[in-house]
Parts: sequence; C-alpha cells; structure tokens
Amino acid sequence: METSVIDDVEINLSQPSDLEVKWVGQEHVKNQLLAAWLVLNDSDVPLTPRLIGLPGVGKTTLAYTTAKELGREIYFIQATMDTRPEDLIISPVIGENQTIRYVASPLVTAMIKGGVLILDEGNRMPEKSWASLAPLLDQRRYVESQLAGITIHAHPNFRMVTTMNTDPSTFELPEYILSRLQPLIELDFPSKEEEKRILKLQVPFADDEIIDMVSAFLSAAHLEEKPFTVRSGIQILRYALKLKKVTGQSQQDCLYQSIDQILGEDALDLI
Ligand SMILES: Nc1ncnc2c1ncn2[C@@H]1O[C@H](COP(=O)(O)OP(=O)(O)O)[C@@H](O)[C@H]1O
Ligand SMILES: [Mg+2]
Repeated sequence: METSVIDDVEINLSQPSDLEVKWVGQEHVKNQLLAAWLVLNDSDVPLTPRLIGLPGVGKTTLAYTTAKELGREIYFIQATMDTRPEDLIISPVIGENQTIRYVASPLVTAMIKGGVLILDEGNRMPEKSWASLAPLLDQRRYVESQLAGITIHAHPNFRMVTTMNTDPSTFELPEYILSRLQPLIELDFPSKEEEKRILKLQVPFADDEIIDMVSAFLSAAHLEEKPFTVRSGIQILRYALKLKKVTGQSQQDCLYQSIDQILGEDALDLI
C-alpha cells in the first residue's frame, strides 16, 4: 500500500479509479470544465466548478472523461448525507498491535499526488462536511486534519470538480460554500443527433429502428419538459431488447412495456 509522510505522520493513500468512459457531443461544456481547471501562469490558481443538471443528463460522465483528458489520476468520492469531514480528509483505522493508522481519503490522496478529485453529488452531503473544505476551495489550497493534527497542501496539479443534481432531495448549501464552487457549468439535454449517438454508444447491439423510436420518445419528453434523460433512454432500450429476447413479442410492444415499467404509464402518452 502506498503511503506518504506529512509532518512526521504516516498516512495510507487511496487507490485511483479507472473507468472506461466516452463523451459524445456537447464540446462546449467540456471546454468550460477544461478552462476552469487551466492555470495561466505562476500567479494563477485553478477553479473548482460545480456541474449541475438533472439526474442522468451526463454530469458524472463529463467530469470523468474531462479529467481523463488531463492525463492525471482520477479519484472519486460519492457524497451522501452521511459523508463526514473525516471521510473527506483522513480517517483512523486500528492497525497491528492496537496502533492507529491514518488513511487518506480519495480527496487528500488526489491533493498529495496531483490528481483530479470528482466529488459526485456534492449537494447530498451536509454543510458541516463542506465547511471542512473551505480553505481548499480558495487560494489557500489546503485542508486540516484535526484527527492527525496535520495540514495538507494541494499539489499544483490537483484539480477538483463537484457535480450536483437539480432535484429536491438535496441540501441547500450556504453562500460561502457555493461562492467557492465556481464557475457554474450547466448541463442541458443533448441534441437529438447527440442523444442518438449516446444510445448507440451505450447499447451498441440495438438496431437503428429501436434507437430511432427511443430517440423520438426522448425528444417528445424534452418538448414537454419532463425530467427524463438519456439515462432513462438507455435503460428503456436495454430492457426492451431483453424483453424481446425472452418473450419474442414485437419490438414496439416490448418498447411500450419497457417505458411503462421504467417511467410509468403516464410516460406512454408521449408516444
Ligand atoms: N454526452 C454523453 N456521452 C456519452 N454518454 C453519456 C453522455 N451523456 C450521458 N451519457 C450516459 O448516460 C448515463 C447517465 O449519465 P451520468 O453521467 O451518470 O449522469 P448524471 O451524473 O448527470 O446523473 C450514463 O450511462 C452515461 O454514460
Ligand atoms: Mg452522476
């Protein structure tokens, strides 16, 4: 296990995450994220943007693929309402002979190694946890571990982004936190052509006919301002094809059943 020593305290580091992901279309949001992370000269600092949009619109995928383009290690934290400050910084574990070992969070590991930290669904964690990151999110670029009694400074290559769903089951964060999570990068529905390419990429064994049907369904949903995203489109497509394989029913019947079971009966009105 990789370790690092800070102020004579040895800490175990976390593992980076490595996923195969691809981004289709919407170059402008990717450029916004790359610009936020860019450092222009020695007196400049990177920004920590907030990626917002409906669940399933592509926020996590955008963060991940853009981070990959930087060619640095990627670390990931899934925020929940139980995420505590020590989960974000350093937590203790009991080692051999009852000694305490310190384990760096993915965030602190990214800070030490100069990686990218994706704090996913950041508005699911409470203000108290965000407060522990306040100095990291401005020019100071450090965090303090109360537990280990040390201050960790971010490597110049450290970058961070947080994603936030625009749905009601989340915390309203205070202004002093939100003002540090800038700029706001808003992810909207892809164009119809892009949506089709995403469906094809994620479900490559689907034929054009059913992809066109799901794409038409998503377009109708966007027009009606329903909160259905390409994630639902991918699930509908997958489930319809599985149903067809098992039941031998027509593609269209399977598609309708799939929509009904995934989004509910009302969604069928969109067809
Ligand atoms: N532009 C895109 N290119 C490729 N895949 C996408 C794109 N947008 C969404 N997806 C796919 O849609 C699904 C939902 O995306 P995700 O990033 O998890 O959404 P969010 O984080 O906003 O909830 C994933 O399977 C993802 O791969
Ligand atoms: Mg996500």
